[in-house]
Amino acid sequence: MKTPLSNKPRLHFGAAYYPEHWPEERWPQDMDLMKQAHINVSRLAEFAWSTLEPAEGEFRFAWLERAISMLAERGIATVLGTPTAAPPAWLTSAHPATLAVDEYGRKARHGNRWHYCPTSAEMCAASRRITRAMARRFGGNPAVIGWQTDNELGRVCYCDGCRRKFQVFLKKRYKTLKQLNERWSTAYWSQTYADWKQIPIPIGGHNPGLRLEWKRFITQTNRDFQKEQADILRQYIDPQVWITHNFMGWFDAFDHYQMSADLDMASWDYYVGSGHHDYLGHGVIHDLTRGFKRKNFWVMETQPGSVNWAGVNNSLNRWEARTMAWQAVAHGAEGLLYWQWRSAPGGQEQYHGSLVDQSGQPRPFYAEAETVGQEFARLSDLIAGSTVQAQVAFLNDYESRWSIDFQRHHKDFDYVAYFNHFTRPVAAHNIPVDVISADQTLDGYRTVFAPALLILDEERVARLEEFVQHGGTLVLTARCGMKDRTNSLLPQRPPAGLADLAGVEVEEYFALDEPVPVKGNFFEGNASIWAERLKLLDKKATAVLARYRPSNGWLDEQPAVTVRSQHGGFVYYIGAWLDETSQKTLVAHILKMANRDGIETPVGVEIRTRVREDGQEIYFLINHERQSHSVRLPWKAHDHLGDQDLEEEFTLAPYSVCVLTKVKSSVLVEGPAKG
Ligand code: GAL
Repeated sequence: MKTPLSNKPRLHFGAAYYPEHWPEERWPQDMDLMKQAHINVSRLAEFAWSTLEPAEGEFRFAWLERAISMLAERGIATVLGTPTAAPPAWLTSAHPATLAVDEYGRKARHGNRWHYCPTSAEMCAASRRITRAMARRFGGNPAVIGWQTDNELGRVCYCDGCRRKFQVFLKKRYKTLKQLNERWSTAYWSQTYADWKQIPIPIGGHNPGLRLEWKRFITQTNRDFQKEQADILRQYIDPQVWITHNFMGWFDAFDHYQMSADLDMASWDYYVGSGHHDYLGHGVIHDLTRGFKRKNFWVMETQPGSVNWAGVNNSLNRWEARTMAWQAVAHGAEGLLYWQWRSAPGGQEQYHGSLVDQSGQPRPFYAEAETVGQEFARLSDLIAGSTVQAQVAFLNDYESRWSIDFQRHHKDFDYVAYFNHFTRPVAAHNIPVDVISADQTLDGYRTVFAPALLILDEERVARLEEFVQHGGTLVLTARCGMKDRTNSLLPQRPPAGLADLAGVEVEEYFALDEPVPVKGNFFEGNASIWAERLKLLDKKATAVLARYRPSNGWLDEQPAVTVRSQHGGFVYYIGAWLDETSQKTLVAHILKMANRDGIETPVGVEIRTRVREDGQEIYFLINHERQSHSVRLPWKAHDHLGDQDLEEEFTLAPYSVCVLTKVKSSVLVEGPAKG
């Protein structure tokens, strides 16, 4: 097999390109414009099924081959998408069972995308056929550096076929109906099943055990669908050619850790929609995506100015997209592609932002993209292959999230919002974090946050115990340790198996209709949405950091936040959803006690570090705001973007970015600035 276009680590920069929308005579002009913008990768074909296979088994690949080689002539590599996100009309009309059915029993119509049932035998056969044909033709093409499976997987189908397969899936997991009935407490409301065939697909407020299994089934079926493609591709591609999927941030149709297990790299589609970039919120989604494979990732799509699908499709401010691009790199992205190169004359997305408009001319945004492309190219050798190194981990758990979503108990108890209630203040201190699966090893971490880790099993408990025994600091929060893997209530009080570690148990939980005052040792504020009344199990070793003040009578003067010191580390239990200011103070205290500190920057300014293999640290300093900020760093630095040396104190212009390395001799002995 031949070697791909470039094996050496490289920052990739590009756009999604659909040559099938345009006459071939136009391609050279588009590709020259790409080259001029320093584009070195293009993603092709992920919706081109009807062009690639216009009738069953008749393949037309020559055009795609020509496009790939014309791009390669200009030094532009290709990422190929399997085109299964948009099954063609000949398939859906000849095999209506390929069409998905929604929860109200309505069959999808042809003409959108995402209209297929991922378990349909006909769909899977067609997916295998087109994937194999593409892999045979392009698997050895040296210009194709990577493959993307489908596009934004996640269709949920409720057809009878899916229901039958779900029943088989349950039988495999539970073996006997007796077991299933017991684990789900089906005597409740006479749900007891006497035959596997009686088990429905859950719709709405159904049995919690059944609902959790349905989410697992969706994960399994999407994974199977994707794995068939990956397995076929691997028979034909060079081992250095990677397979990825473009995930969607916090989207939760399936467990992303399981979906990523069959991939070489994770990537995601990074859209703001209405409004503007939220650097503390979006930054952690990069960390989340990096955590899917625990390695660097790509941003496979991002918006060139504006989208077409939000309430208000406002444009990002000038240079805002540049800060977003650099933030992605700062958090571990090795590639970033705009969606899309040029607006097609027809089709559903005519108004979406692009680099080139309907007339074929560069849009104003093109110039910003050109700048980013030029910068990526210039600093690629410095940055590519370096990694983010974090000693703080956040445990993310899809099953806990689903379980809470099934029964929020307070309509505003949103798992992601609560998770971010902890990540944001940490990010504001510029402390590198990994977001990892709650089932991953914790080796190498010193501080672990487990926001609303509702579902526990013995392995999770053992892992956290071991972590604490080795001196780690663990932060447990409201809604930790309440359910088991079948989504049943654990027989102990929360946090169940973790109660001994925390030195507390939850006597009662309260969904709050009004804020409850909380007084801490170093903050005073309110709890809203959720409050847990904690009971100390070990009064000697556990300290109360905050108590509820008089409110509903039940909570008055009861412990709200506790800490237990253990083996040199600390175990916190935060039973309340605190207001933002109190939360910031509390998180800052936890970080300080755990000796985690980052470089302080003004609000709106971020500094992040990547470390090269040779140990050199690269700092990405980004002003995410439309106003300038003055910053003070603990050392003098060289800015590789501006190609200048910087004193410790300087002004960052609006939306400006610096890529820094320390000037060694300049490390200050003194602490904070005077005056
Ligand atoms: C993504 C999708 C792209 C395009 C884009 C528009 O979700 O993968 O194909 O539709 O949205 O913002």
